[in-house]
Amino acid sequence: INLLSMNTLYKDKNVLVTAGPTIEDIDPFRYITNNSSGKMGYSIARRAYQFGANVTLISGETNLKIPQGVNFIKVRSSKEMLDEVIKYKDSDYVFMAAAVSDYTPENFSDIKVKKQDSNLNIALKRTTDILKTLGADKKDTILVGFAAETNNIKEYAKNKIKSKNLDYIIANDISQPNSGFKSDNNTVLIIDKFGIEKSYENMPKNDLAYEILEYIGRN
Ligand code: CTP
Ligand code: CA
Repeated sequence: INLLSMNTLYKDKNVLVTAGPTIEDIDPFRYITNNSSGKMGYSIARRAYQFGANVTLISGETNLKIPQGVNFIKVRSSKEMLDEVIKYKDSDYVFMAAAVSDYTPENFSDIKVKKQDSNLNIALKRTTDILKTLGADKKDTILVGFAAETNNIKEYAKNKIKSKNLDYIIANDISQPNSGFKSDNNTVLIIDKFGIEKSYENMPKNDLAYEILEYIGRN
């Protein structure tokens, strides 16, 4: 192992990482979010810095410590995340690990929604697909998406490479125990735009982040 070349694999590269969940507000007290812990993205940001990159981490709400040395930007909603990500769209690498909400309330109520005797329906509209937006006018950026799936993993992941114009997708099987969202570990399969696959056994996200960066940085 050549330690010197490892630490400089991303030297002078601008790396954007997104992580964590988004929060879509319904009223001043209620919101829609998801189970993302942010651990995978934070691990990638931490490791990319150790590989010599200039790292920007755009993060939703998490309980995690900000990794040392990164340019840290905190966001709340998918719209805020989109607005920040766009500023870094020409990074050398983008790792879109955030769990971006697909839907947001059609209307935000600035006063508390009161309960009624009947059922409540909340109208939701689609959010912008941030990754697809980046893919649509991609220049030299290496664009990496993440796909958390419970079934048909390869098929869905491959469709996402095409529809979002990605260079790589990192698919993980969230139906597996000790994998995915809240876990400290993960089991992933990396697929590139040519269909070449590389799978990793279950391991801590910190170690996996190292492996992922090594694999993608050397290609
Ligand atoms: N993504 C994004 N903007 C969105 C939704 C998703 O940038 N509004 C990104 C995610 O950060 C991830 C990739 O797209 O890197 C795949 O997200 P995923 O939820 O697996 O796929 P979707 O395209 O949203 O499809 P579905 O949820 O139906 O599987
Ligand atoms: Ca989604």
